Amino acid sequence: PAPSPHLPRAEIGVIGGSGLYAFLDDATDVEVPTPYGEPSDPLVVGTVAGRGVAFVPRHGRDHRHPPHRINYRANLWALRSLGVRQILAPCAVGSLRPDLGPGTLVVPDQLVDRTSGRVQTFYDTGAVHVAFADPYCPDGRRAVIDTATRTGWPPQDQGVMVVVEGPRFSTRAESRWFAGQGWHLVNMTGHPEAVLARELGLCYTAIALVTDLDAGVAEGEGVQQAEVFALFAEHVGRLRTLLFETIPALPGERSCPCAHALDGLRLPLTLPE
Ligand code: ADE
Repeated sequence: PAPSPHLPRAEIGVIGGSGLYAFLDDATDVEVPTPYGEPSDPLVVGTVAGRGVAFVPRHGRDHRHPPHRINYRANLWALRSLGVRQILAPCAVGSLRPDLGPGTLVVPDQLVDRTSGRVQTFYDTGAVHVAFADPYCPDGRRAVIDTATRTGWPPQDQGVMVVVEGPRFSTRAESRWFAGQGWHLVNMTGHPEAVLARELGLCYTAIALVTDLDAGVAEGEGVQQAEVFALFAEHVGRLRTLLFETIPALPGERSCPCAHALDGLRLPLTLPE
């Protein structure tokens, strides 16, 4: 598709919960059409420290899209259409380890896909196999880790996040099995979001907030939705501040492998500039 000259431009994208985008200066709502249908809601485009930022409310502003029904392709395509090349992706996660309690910030370095039936590629024809050994941007991760540490919220600086299909939480046996594999976190939205970003040559950095101990670690009945939402609401201001402080620390010119993820691949479609 031809670039739409009337769309505002942004260089950094944030995909996250509602309540996070109040931090943008001069925010305007932008409806971004995509070949894959509508993003979760209109994007909010503004600036932070002079840098153009586009925000997508992952679940929609009224939280009407559950994790398994989010139009991940439209969200990523819309961001790239505005010029975005680096994405920060805050998300709520359950913990698979007692030492990572609610309120812990984790910057994962690996993911495991346990979803099923989700559309997870832009490339349904041709031979496009992106490298995904390291799913997250090393420079984005470094910027988040350094900023969080400097501003008094030192994160766990690595971790494996398993992404489940949901929308139910895991059984105790599933959760114990995940923990037994050495995995640290469980979540419902991290896949296919990260791989679709990679398929568009975008940098993607997950920023995980532990909202609960998952069933295999917790005493009692296991995780309940109310505690997840309450914990996230309690920390949303902190996350917003972290995003605000991290954005100026992101590189202006990319020199990470993500920037070259599509080099030498023959794409069956033209990506938006
Ligand atoms: N998101 C937040 N907490 C979660 C959990 N325990 N399992 C899956 N996704 C989650």
